[in-house]
Amino acid sequence: GLPEYVKIVEVGPRDGLQNEEVIVPTDIKIELINRLSKTGLPAIEVTSFVSSKWVPQMADHKEVMRGIERHPGVQYPVLTPNLQGFNSAIAAGATEVSVFGAASDSFSRVNINCSIEKSIDKFEEVAKAARNMNIPVRGYVSCALGCPYEGNITPAKVAEVSKRLYNLGCYEVSLGDTIGVGTPGSMKRMLEAVMKEIPLNALAVHCHDTYGQALANILTAIQMGVAVVDSSVAGLGGCPYARGATGNVATEDVIYMLNGLGISTGVNLYTVMEAGNFICTALNKKTNSKVAQASFNI
Ligand code: HMG
Ligand code: MG
Repeated sequence: GLPEYVKIVEVGPRDGLQNEEVIVPTDIKIELINRLSKTGLPAIEVTSFVSSKWVPQMADHKEVMRGIERHPGVQYPVLTPNLQGFNSAIAAGATEVSVFGAASDSFSRVNINCSIEKSIDKFEEVAKAARNMNIPVRGYVSCALGCPYEGNITPAKVAEVSKRLYNLGCYEVSLGDTIGVGTPGSMKRMLEAVMKEIPLNALAVHCHDTYGQALANILTAIQMGVAVVDSSVAGLGGCPYARGATGNVATEDVIYMLNGLGISTGVNLYTVMEAGNFICTALNKKTNSKVAQASFNI
């Protein structure tokens, strides 16, 4: 049956903003995170400790990490692709990190400049350092339902990479439909393969809405028992290394659907919409959340 509670991992400040062409001022990023912290969201991905030559939008990671108000009970993970990123993140005060692999070798090379095999070595270094400091590590598997370079990705490949991340110490593996090409059919087949390898309570789904399938895919996943969903306020996002990928599924739309299903999230929809309104105004763009569009139009 459906889970009673679904944990929402808000990725807007990272996955959303990383894709904005114009550099967003640091104080706007900080205010967005501070607003999101007051909505009841249990986890907010703050920034990435990656190369500022590769992703200039995340160059202020240290300032953002140090500038935010941290609320008790809220997790603030940051992306760290390697030990260098991990060390910088810890120095800036991070208390949780995420490594990000892919089920596609081509995507891995474009995104983090190394093969899947090599990336696992780097993630092992991060996980080892993290374990010594009691820092939880989350793992991403990008291209779980398709790759912008290789096209179809087999469920077996996703299961293999997921298992490796889980075995190296990731407490949770987030399965990313990076380019939003999945459907409930491919989501189900992929999850069936992954669930044979790692426990259901260690799985999350991370859907992008490029083909308008994100909510349907998420519903499929929660019907299969997945109880952690990544989403982005106002549906901000995309991926700089996946051309044509549109935003993540909007947090507002996920909460609306879960509310309707009677599944608790602990998140206040209205205050998330206000945070979405804040960032859309600051970026001078229209929200991608259908729920926010509908609500602010009445
Ligand atoms: P590299 O060039 O292969 O690294 O980059 P390197 O170890 O050879 O070092 C080269 C230079 O990079 C050196 O600097 C290092 O200091 C520096 P130089 O001596 O030339 O001045 N460097 C770093 N600087 C800052 N932070 C670091 C770091 N590591 C090395 N951690 C690297 C490898 C991974 C750093 C690079 O490829 C990179 O930054 N890539 C960007 C990855 C990224 O942020 N992608 C977007 C996020 S993934 C995503 O959105 C998908 C997801 O949402 C899930 C989904 O949707 O499916 C997670
Ligand atoms: Mg993403």
